[in-house]
Amino acid sequence: MTAPLINQGPVVVTGAAGFIGSHLVDGLLARGTEVIAIDRRSVHNDPVAARNLADALADPSLALHQADLATDELDELITGARTVFHLAAVPGVRDSWAERFPDYASSNVVATQRLLAACERAQVPRLVLASSSSVYGQTSGPSAEGDPTYPMSPYGATKLAAEHLCMAHAARPDTGTSVVALRYFTVYGPRQRSDMAISRVLAAVLSGVPVPLYGDGHQSREFTYVDDIVAATLAAATIADDIDAEIVNVGGGSSVSMLELIAMIGQITGRKVPLAMEAPRAGDVEATRADLTLAHALLGYSPRVELREGIARQLDWMVKQPPSQSVSTPVAEVVSR
Ligand code: NAD
Ligand code: UGA
Repeated sequence: MTAPLINQGPVVVTGAAGFIGSHLVDGLLARGTEVIAIDRRSVHNDPVAARNLADALADPSLALHQADLATDELDELITGARTVFHLAAVPGVRDSWAERFPDYASSNVVATQRLLAACERAQVPRLVLASSSSVYGQTSGPSAEGDPTYPMSPYGATKLAAEHLCMAHAARPDTGTSVVALRYFTVYGPRQRSDMAISRVLAAVLSGVPVPLYGDGHQSREFTYVDDIVAATLAAATIADDIDAEIVNVGGGSSVSMLELIAMIGQITGRKVPLAMEAPRAGDVEATRADLTLAHALLGYSPRVELREGIARQLDWMVKQPPSQSVSTPVAEVVSR
């Protein structure tokens, strides 16, 4: 084991203006790390990007660059970086089937290949990839990293392709870049994307507008609080630098069905969740569940934030959003319960 690969020079975060990327940027800045942040969205014309990076932008240790990883010149941006945290991607399982697929292919696969090649040219010691539980497909128990991978959506296929690209690069005899691919399991918390379940269910409670429930609600997810994801991601940069490549699950420690989640949100808010029953969506798997044995051994990772507490924090954050970004007015009433 040698010295950590952060706190010895700048690190790069791609997808920095996104939900998870912006939390990682905040976490790095809080440790005093110099951050080169890259995203194709601009804080000048994208209100979500501006909101996500609002705190970070005030920190002089942040250098923010607008760039598309699939097409723009990358070498100058990453030269001198000790670690590249690669979170940029087009996320979302259910939207990946049709006309948006070219963007998934470009941003999740082509961009990853270009970034890996740039890391090798710049001799970046480590790249940490945000991969996904969606690479596993249908499963019948906790998924371990050595289990077969059968993605059930085009999105999952692009995330698996990104992982394979990382492994191929890490196996090159001439590479100086080691890779840790983290398979995140459904992440939630403040700034969660508005297309995701917890965000939508909370918005439904606050606004009274029904949330679609896809299928019978018996599908289950291992929801993972974003602070736990950040902790694991930072740890992936600081584990031994004599590794070439690792793939590690990062989950929340338990799995609940959508019906259980909805009941819990009803209890937390003291309101009935308005639902609109809809057909199951292509690409959604029945269940996700993480075997965290390797995460514990390699990253020293254990999830700390339980689902009920994490949902309460996300609700608290949603309620505090300025009126232009919040979903309804009677929100104070909900949190006062
Ligand atoms: P997000 O959409 O909020 O953030 C992704 C960011 O990447 C966006 O700001 C976007 O503008 C940027 N981006 C996309 N394509 C780009 C490109 N070509 N060049 C530059 N920037 C680009 O998504 P998120 O939920 O924060 O997800 C972050 C990462 O974590 C993704 O790689 C995603 O696949 C992975 N992941 C997320 C979850 C989850 O539950 N949110 C679970 C598993 C894995
Ligand atoms: C999430 C992320 O969106 C993906 O980017 C990520 O790769 C994936 O986690 C992962 O773990 O790898 P998903 O599990 O579909 O994908 O997360 P949610 O969008 O929060 O959906 C969870 C469940 O709620 C799904 O079964 C979905 O069908 C259901 N859902 C979602 C609804 O019933 N209604 C909605 O309005 C939204």
